[in-house]
Amino acid sequence: MKKRVTFGSRIGVILATVGCAVGLGNIWRFPYMLGVNGGAAFLLIYIGCIIILGLPVMLTEFFIGRHSRKNAAGAFKVMAPGTVWSVIGYNGVLAAFLILGFYFVVAGWTLEYIVQAASGSLNGKSATEFATEFSDFSSSVFRPIMWTVIFIAFTHFVIISGVKNGIERASKVLMPVLFLILIILCVRSVTLPNAEAGLSFLFNPDFSKINSSVILSGMGQAFFSLSVGMGCLITYSSYFGKETNLQRTALEVTVLDSLVALLAGVIIFPAVFSFGIEPTAGPELVFITLPNVFSQLPFGSLWSFIFYVLLALAALTSTISLHEVATAYVHEEYHMIRSRAALIVSLDTVVFAVISSLSLGILKEYTIFGLTFFDFLDYVTAKIMLPFGGMLICIFVGTRVDRKILKAELTNEGTVPFYFFNTYSFFMKYIAPVAIGLVFLNELGLINLITSQFK
Ligand code: TRP
Repeated sequence: MKKRVTFGSRIGVILATVGCAVGLGNIWRFPYMLGVNGGAAFLLIYIGCIIILGLPVMLTEFFIGRHSRKNAAGAFKVMAPGTVWSVIGYNGVLAAFLILGFYFVVAGWTLEYIVQAASGSLNGKSATEFATEFSDFSSSVFRPIMWTVIFIAFTHFVIISGVKNGIERASKVLMPVLFLILIILCVRSVTLPNAEAGLSFLFNPDFSKINSSVILSGMGQAFFSLSVGMGCLITYSSYFGKETNLQRTALEVTVLDSLVALLAGVIIFPAVFSFGIEPTAGPELVFITLPNVFSQLPFGSLWSFIFYVLLALAALTSTISLHEVATAYVHEEYHMIRSRAALIVSLDTVVFAVISSLSLGILKEYTIFGLTFFDFLDYVTAKIMLPFGGMLICIFVGTRVDRKILKAELTNEGTVPFYFFNTYSFFMKYIAPVAIGLVFLNELGLINLITSQFK
């Protein structure tokens, strides 16, 4: 049997997985969702979902991946041949295409900001000017599409030339630098005038803001940010070595990922309140807020240049992971050479990304269920497909896998202890699927419908 490639070192495992998890989801999507969903109450729900749902689902994906040593769709064919469980894999592959359809657009925006920072044109503008310029830019036809296509080309290049190693090595330096810059920005942000209002928005929950849509958004954000629910981590963990400590890796990735999101919140909200920006601004929030913070720093252009480069790289390590899920599937399922499979994926995502970019400008009038194409892709993937996939993953392992096999894999054949195995197993088997199911029913209004019968 051909020996399967595995990650070289423990740090390689962590970096690749953190690289997949940390991206625009933490720095762009988290603050935007928090702003739209009323602040601190959303944060609590998000953290709750990370602990109760995200962590158990991540560990379960690690189990499936390393146990089967297959890609997202293949894993279910090996573990449950001839059954409908492979629907989890198909849901995941489709989700990868759809996520890339809007993720590449936002990734493209980071490139525009790199160029703007380098040319010094982010200097000396008012908060209103930053906002108008962003909205002119994102709703225009040519430039956003150009950057999006360039970003797809970068991702494509990495996927076909396997410079993953280089990226891994580079991440060892770049990720800590990103962390450092985030800390510097935090300090600058919390010392701005009126920063307390932002911190209070972020940390002082107003429980009356909680409703079914806030809960669904918090759950969606937890899944999206941790990259769980669609088999991405099944694919990654299929490359883990047999000595990799799955429990510790899951915990480290979850903590780091949540920390980056939290730092992003602490940077954005004090600044939002200090500069009089609307917290509910939506997808543009980060792009209209950060330039104001940079302009308050000495050597602002330099800092913003470094920041946007790092943000683009963080996005790249995430787009690679999504592209890989789709490419591996097309490559294996249709027996196509890898480079052609990658090309098909890239070209398909160009089509999606172009439409979703245009849906913020000239195609704004064309909506699906009242959402622009961009928002629609974001909504169906994060709020429906990922939690749905996570629910099925738990039900699959909970009902089809012998506890002994599960425990043996998660303890590396009994060599690392798993003190909370029973708790984990209970959460994975019962709490997670039931909780996700209830959130769905609640959002659909079905719970209201049922309880109203008894009033
Ligand atoms: N988690 C990444 C982010 O926060 C995005 C991402 C990468 C993702 N791979 C994924 C989201 C798989 C869902 C599923 O930016």
